[in-house]
Amino acid sequence: MLRPHAEDAFAAELAALAAHDDRPRPERWRLSPWAVATYLLGGELPDGTVISPKYVGPRRIVEVAVTTLATDRALLLLGVPGTAKTWVSEHLAAAVSGDSTLLVQGTAGTPEEAIRYGWNYAQLLAHGPSRDALVPSPVMRAMADGRIARVEELTRIPADVQDTLITILSEKTLPVPELGGETQAVRGFNLIATANDRDRGVNELSSALRRRFNTVVLPLPASVEDEVDIVSRRVRQLGRSLDLPDLPDGAEEIRRVVTVFRELRDGVTADGRTRVKSPTGTLSTAEAISVVTSGIALAAHFGDGVLRSADVAAGILGAVVRDPAGDRVVWQEYLETVVRERDGWKDFYRACREVS
Ligand SMILES: Nc1ncnc2c1ncn2[C@@H]1O[C@H](COP(=O)(O)OP(=O)(O)OP(=O)(O)O)[C@@H](O)[C@H]1O
Ligand SMILES: [Mg+2]
Repeated sequence: MLRPHAEDAFAAELAALAAHDDRPRPERWRLSPWAVATYLLGGELPDGTVISPKYVGPRRIVEVAVTTLATDRALLLLGVPGTAKTWVSEHLAAAVSGDSTLLVQGTAGTPEEAIRYGWNYAQLLAHGPSRDALVPSPVMRAMADGRIARVEELTRIPADVQDTLITILSEKTLPVPELGGETQAVRGFNLIATANDRDRGVNELSSALRRRFNTVVLPLPASVEDEVDIVSRRVRQLGRSLDLPDLPDGAEEIRRVVTVFRELRDGVTADGRTRVKSPTGTLSTAEAISVVTSGIALAAHFGDGVLRSADVAAGILGAVVRDPAGDRVVWQEYLETVVRERDGWKDFYRACREVS
């Protein structure tokens, strides 16, 4: 499998947590809220089993998110691109329901059937409307089984289609007028939606729908150390699934990529002394992860197996310069005023000059 689902990739950790979990679980939950939070944040069990952290960030955020899922309100994860909204939603669903696949991908073209149900037309024409001819959406299946459903990029979905969720979330039922019936949600059902700050306005959430959600904002990593930790961890995982060799030491280059991204994002150098202009790209943690991963592939296939400046320079340039005219000027200025003067960054400066 190129990318196993969270519940499969971390099956051993989930099983170990379930075995040690003696706290009360909400009905149909695989784990108690405490164990779900531990699964996300990492920890060590009494028998020494280590639970790897999936999310690096404030504990309270995770606690609020998990608790929300045990109430009658749905969970909305909001944040700028690349703040692990999708990642957290997948792991929450995996830990709570053991199933992260009940997923609706929101786009401008998402139809109502993707949230409610559709029909198998061959069956429908042959036998008329019946339960057999009905094709339930992931949300409908989650309601029937008492699991967590996920809606990605909620705000991209047209407003009238979004509103389909209002009855589901407030009445906990999905009417099927064609059959004169309904599907009622059983305990354990809830919904996690994600939405991107930058896309807001594409289709703003209606206030009626917003009231059905508890909103949790996922912040950017608080410090360079946190972000380096996130990037290193994910790069190692991705590298393994792509069969890349474990590189001896890329820590220095990872720190550089993260530093450059943070300084350009924040518009000021890490020491707070020099203001720099920000490019149009988001320069998210997610992008730092892919720059480092491609760098490792370059080092493995064309270099000497050690991650060096030259392996990440092209990736950084690609992430920074999105709008060729404006961003290129911003990048050049940053290179000449900040990177050039920095102790120990000579190789990096040279490598960036070469690709720019
Ligand atoms: N605080 C964090 N802790 C752990 N991983 C993180 C963190 N921030 C970012 N990541 C990593 O960044 C990657 C991208 O995250 P994800 O795709 O979930 O972002 P997103 O918020 O859904 O972005 P988008 O708005 O573009 O959909 C994931 O691999 C995730 O592991
Ligand atoms: Mg996402």
